[in-house]
Amino acid sequence: MIKNDLFLRALKGESVERPPVWMMRQAGRYLPDFMKLKEKYDFFTRCRTPELATEITVMPIKQVGTDAAILFSDILVIPQAMNIEVEMKPGVGPWLPHPIRTQEDVDRVIVPDIDETLGYVMEAIKMTKMELNDEVPLIGFAGSPWTILCYAVQGQGSKNFDIAKKFCFSNPVAAHQLLQKITDTTIAYLKAKVAAGVDAVQVFDSWGGMLSPTDYDEFSWKYIQQIIDALRDEIPVIAFGKGCWFALHTMARSGAAAIGVDWTCSPKNARYLTGGQITLQGNFDPSRLYSPPAEIKKMVHQMIDEFGKDRYIANLGHGILPDIPVENAIAFVEAVKEYK
Ligand code: CP3
Repeated sequence: MIKNDLFLRALKGESVERPPVWMMRQAGRYLPDFMKLKEKYDFFTRCRTPELATEITVMPIKQVGTDAAILFSDILVIPQAMNIEVEMKPGVGPWLPHPIRTQEDVDRVIVPDIDETLGYVMEAIKMTKMELNDEVPLIGFAGSPWTILCYAVQGQGSKNFDIAKKFCFSNPVAAHQLLQKITDTTIAYLKAKVAAGVDAVQVFDSWGGMLSPTDYDEFSWKYIQQIIDALRDEIPVIAFGKGCWFALHTMARSGAAAIGVDWTCSPKNARYLTGGQITLQGNFDPSRLYSPPAEIKKMVHQMIDEFGKDRYIANLGHGILPDIPVENAIAFVEAVKEYK
């Protein structure tokens, strides 16, 4: 039994004393202790060393007080396991020296054995569960197949992922083969995470908003739905799409336990588009954490008033920014805890 089960109860749609709170990318660069580890170990060493991943995962629980932990890792460990080289270049971000651009490239991508390639993630989950000692639940995650394709094809971060879109629209057969391989890998990966002990999973579709609503259905949602169908009987699934307000109606009927919303959609509109029954998660503008703590608290209370305290998980509308003062992140979390 998990002692603080607010998050799991909100996912079930149960009535709660106050909404649970966590922050996307909460285990990261705004924490001074994280920066100390970052000086000593490179990014994928931190991901691959269960002791380090565990230490980083529990940092925000101890230092910021969130109601759920999210495993420290990255969505890009999936392409790595699929035979696509991924580096994390300081100051640049994700860097893939051999991006996927042709049918032959797609043919070389494998659907790997998860234990063999990503066993270190499962070790980190088991170690983190021991360390958390059932205080709060642990969230596992994966990128959406579309978001993974964006990096695999573009080869790095981008403002518009133009090369990834060009690949999909000029070579849809190869694109769908790649998306299906990523989907099959992701389903096996998330099932292994469930077996290792995570309490919920979130699918991050960070670049879904790059697509038109029609293309979103074809190149992104179709594959997220496969993931939800494969996991929903085992564990609550949260589907988060950045810039995907146009898909909220479809998402609400997918069997996901909760839907993530970004700040470009008002709570009222998000409730309207999702039919008012499903648990929603979000949607504080991450840049609003630059405001002074008193203003953050006021705005958070307003946000909860608008979403309603039930069927709601307080969160940011996307990942926390690296230069947010820790006090401001704490103010965000405290504001939710003080809500009456
Ligand atoms: O709460 C957490 O931090 C959990 C772990 C987590 C990381 N990445 C750690 C990380 C999670 C959930 C992610 C997800 C992720 N990774 C996404 C989806 C969410 C989102 O923000 O859109 C995406 C698109 C990635 C790919 C990725 N990894 C990017 C774009 C970057 C940033 C590169 C940079 O330097 O700005 C990363 C690196 C990364 N992943 C960092 C962290 C803490 C920072 C780099 C570092 O610590 O060295």
